[in-house]
Amino acid sequence: MGLSFNKKTIVITGAGNGIGRAASILLANEGAIIISIDKDLKSLKKLKLILKKKCVIKKVDCTKYDEIKKELKDINIVDGLVNCAGIVPQGDIISCTREDWINTINTNLTSVFYITQFFMKKFIHKNSLIFFHDWEKIYTKKKRFYSEYIICRIFYQRC
Ligand SMILES: NC(=O)c1ccc[n+]([C@@H]2O[C@H](COP(=O)([O-])OP(=O)(O)OC[C@H]3O[C@@H](n4cnc5c(N)ncnc54)[C@H](O)[C@@H]3O)[C@@H](O)[C@H]2O)c1
Repeated sequence: MGLSFNKKTIVITGAGNGIGRAASILLANEGAIIISIDKDLKSLKKLKLILKKKCVIKKVDCTKYDEIKKELKDINIVDGLVNCAGIVPQGDIISCTREDWINTINTNLTSVFYITQFFMKKFIHKNSLIFFHDWEKIYTKKKRFYSEYIICRIFYQRC
């Protein structure tokens, strides 16, 4: 890996399963401390058994901004963010209900905005990186102003 993650604090959403879980283990093995966020506490506890002191688990529903603010207010040192919380809806456009659609948008789109905005304020003055599950870099200190466009593009890819 080109970057050093040694002793860096990396926030990972959707850390309980799938890509978020894999990213948590990978980056912890690279020396990072992981702030593991998921709404599924059972999965977080399983991850904690593996990573032990290398991770701090936080049960948060990333679609709820009040919950984010309350449960994550003590996280002040952040070097990186990996947004992986998401769902993969099954079915097709004919069977998709309005509730299914809104839930997908809230989970795969709005939650990424909430989490990114919340943590961006904490590391805007640092040379930090934000990754989405496509592992695309969207923010650096030098290129902060085009991030909004790229976020929209990645959001689009996720839907
Ligand atoms: N798996 C792939 O190959 C792949 C490829 C590209 C994109 N994606 C996208 O990445 C996202 C994650 O995929 P995955 O395969 O890791 O899924 P997954 O189901 O294995 O893991 C997703 C995790 O996110 C958590 N989560 C869901 N909603 C949440 C919420 N509101 N708040 C907090 N945590 C929440 C779940 O509890 C789960 O632990 C999905 O949106 C998917 O569409 C997946």
